[in-house]
Parts: sequence; C-alpha cells; structure tokens
Amino acid sequence: MPELIPVLSKDDIDKRISVIAHRISNDYKNDELVFIGVLKGSFIFLSDIVRCLTIPVRIDFVGISSYGSGIYSSGNIRLTKKIELNVRDKDLLIIEDIIDTGSTLSYLIDYLNSFDPKTVKVCVLLDKSERRDKKINVDYVCHKVKKGFFVGYGLDYNENYRNLQGIYCLKL
Ligand code: IMP
Ligand code: MG
Repeated sequence: MPELIPVLSKDDIDKRISVIAHRISNDYKNDELVFIGVLKGSFIFLSDIVRCLTIPVRIDFVGISSYGSGIYSSGNIRLTKKIELNVRDKDLLIIEDIIDTGSTLSYLIDYLNSFDPKTVKVCVLLDKSERRDKKINVDYVCHKVKKGFFVGYGLDYNENYRNLQGIYCLKL
C-alpha cells in the first residue's frame, strides 16, 4: 500500500485560498474575469476559490491530458475538451492543480491566446519546481514544493485520491 504523508490540511488550504481570493478580487475588480478550470484536477480548488471571491466571475473548463498512468507525464499533450464561452477581450485566469515541467500550461496559454483574450494569467494550487523546463509566469500560488508526487484535494494518482480533503505526498 502506498504511504500518504500529510502536506496541507483542509484548514491550511482554506486559509491560503482566502488570501488568494482576496488578491484576485482586488486585482480584477474592474475587469471581466473568466476562470478557466483545467479538468479534472482543479475542480475542487476552483469551486472553493470562486465561493470566496467578492467580484463577478464567469467559469469555463478545458480538458487536457498528458499523463498515461503513473507519476510521469508522457509529454504528449492532448486537448480533451475545448472552452465553450466567448473569451475575446476577456481577462482569463487559468486555474490549475499543479505545475511541474510547465508543458501543460505552456500549451494551454497558447491555446487560450488564439481566442484573442485581453489577458491570460495563471493560478495554481501547487508549484513544483524541480522538473520545470518551460518558463511560465505563475501569478497566484497556494503552496510551493520542490519535488514529490502529490494527491488529494482534486489531485490524483491513476484517478484515485481526488476526494481526500487535504493534500498528501505519495510514497510509492
Ligand atoms: P506539467 O505539464 O509537467 O507541468 O504537468 C502538469 C500536469 O501534470 C498537471 O496538470 C497534473 O495533472 C499532472 N501532475 C504533475 N505533478 C503531479 C503530482 O504531483 N500529482 C498529481 N498530478 C500531477
Ligand atoms: Mg492536470
């Protein structure tokens, strides 16, 4: 059985989300904000942030797949669901569970820019730095980690553990 080492409790996550939601509410108070959630890993994170915002927001989702199964990305990125809203001239904030190499976000930023939005920024739950090979500007981060494989609060390992309340490091 893999071992789960606690990283952030639900309470830790709630506190960080409230700080980030406050910053986002200030930064976008005069804008037309659209959250772009990256399925599936961001679904819990996104639903918690939007409920702490004090400004209007529209919500859309993209589906992206890069992992086969296991803990390393195949590097082969596929769009599995397109956006549905018209985002031309809108202020987009990508909501992603974790940035690792940066390939997924780099692909997604290019995809979203093809719709001529006004701005595209990035908000991640976890920023994992060790394997980064694309230079990506991450505007909002809940928690920084160096290395490891993380599950819970939306993050999965072979589609398991998404439902855990906190975030854990998986020791295989
Ligand atoms: P990147 O393209 O290498 O930046 O990888 C980002 C994607 O890989 C994220 O959207 C996650 O789905 C997945 N991923 C990377 N690291 C982890 C992890 O520690 N736990 C769960 N998923 C991860
Ligand atoms: Mg993902």
